[in-house]
Amino acid sequence: MGFAVAAMKMVHRGYIVVLLVELLVFCSFMASSATSSNDMSTAILIRVDQSGNGDYGKIQDAIDAVPSNNSQLYFILVKPGTYREKIVVPADKPFITLSGTQASTTIITWGDGGEIFESPTLSILASDFVGRYLTIQNTFGTSSKAVAVRVSGDRAAFYNCRILSYQDTLLDDAGRHYYRNCYIEGATDFICGSAASLFEKCHLHSLSEGNGAITAQQRGSTSENNGFTFLGCKITGVGTPYLGRPWGPYSRVVFVLSFMSSVVQPQGWDDWGDSNKQSTVYYGEYKCYGPGANRTERVEWSRSLSSDEAVPFLTKEMIGGQGWLRPAPTYFMRGSSVITMNTDGKN
Ligand SMILES: *[C@@H]1O[C@H](CO)[C@@H](O)[C@H](O)[C@H]1NC(C)=O
Ligand SMILES: *[C@@H]1O[C@H](CO)[C@@H](O)[C@H](O)[C@H]1NC(C)=O
Repeated sequence: MGFAVAAMKMVHRGYIVVLLVELLVFCSFMASSATSSNDMSTAILIRVDQSGNGDYGKIQDAIDAVPSNNSQLYFILVKPGTYREKIVVPADKPFITLSGTQASTTIITWGDGGEIFESPTLSILASDFVGRYLTIQNTFGTSSKAVAVRVSGDRAAFYNCRILSYQDTLLDDAGRHYYRNCYIEGATDFICGSAASLFEKCHLHSLSEGNGAITAQQRGSTSENNGFTFLGCKITGVGTPYLGRPWGPYSRVVFVLSFMSSVVQPQGWDDWGDSNKQSTVYYGEYKCYGPGANRTERVEWSRSLSSDEAVPFLTKEMIGGQGWLRPAPTYFMRGSSVITMNTDGKN
């Protein structure tokens, strides 16, 4: 910060003033950086634009430009385009927002299949990530695992995104996550993993011609506080998908106040060939509606929740409350200037 230089040149009084000013600036810098992890209203803006008018042409280059262990919010604004990239948000880069302006025009696409953790088009390993207005797809096809998005960081939120593949589309791996107004499409176990997630007002579209499974939640023991809650969601598609099958023995999935089209398999839930899991899973439905919500033929080991039992699934309690969900930033910094940009403060 030029201290040493200032000190060495401190021959006359004038330089003492310069030094003091620098010291004051430095102190206020330290004070502001100490509190910056709580100030999520201002973000450093990075623009990605394939036409060359942004800071970068590739999304990964923008992520790489975020300093390691950042405590400030970085808002990466992606201009419309089809980005053929396989992207990783590494664990040491929290507080990144990746935002398009419209999911239908801002597309991230790749096509790796096979090994589940090797396949994702977008892998989120950092905490406090937000994705907005993006389509993220894996075009590998139908023959193997092909993850579009892997979310392994804590406190991740997705708004107005489209997540598309066939098998294991969304690897909702670990941590607490919130998905709102998202469209998720796939066929086999297409929302899977051991995260604690609330899906609110999301649209789940099943592509399997036969008996696919919408969820394969992986909770492994009663001590794990994870599971998937679908609140005010909508299920459509083709074939006759199950609502879920247990990847882990204590698999926990609840559908609340959600619309189910006639595609939903009347039995509703599958034990994945292991009847022992019938007594350990927690598969519930509460006040769902539509032709697929008829519980007359549901497996008897699934639950119709009472209003008391439904209470924890009507709120953000399972994902740790509202505390960590942040509104879109209001102020954006580029270099030393602050600019305003209309995000409506909305996600
Ligand atoms: C980031 O934090 C980790 C863990 O505290 C540390 O090991 C690493 O060296 C840090 N990286 C930088 C570039 O400061
Ligand atoms: C639910 O399904 C059963 C048979 O599977 C049928 O008899 C009943 O009418 C259905 N209920 C509604 C409300 O559609």
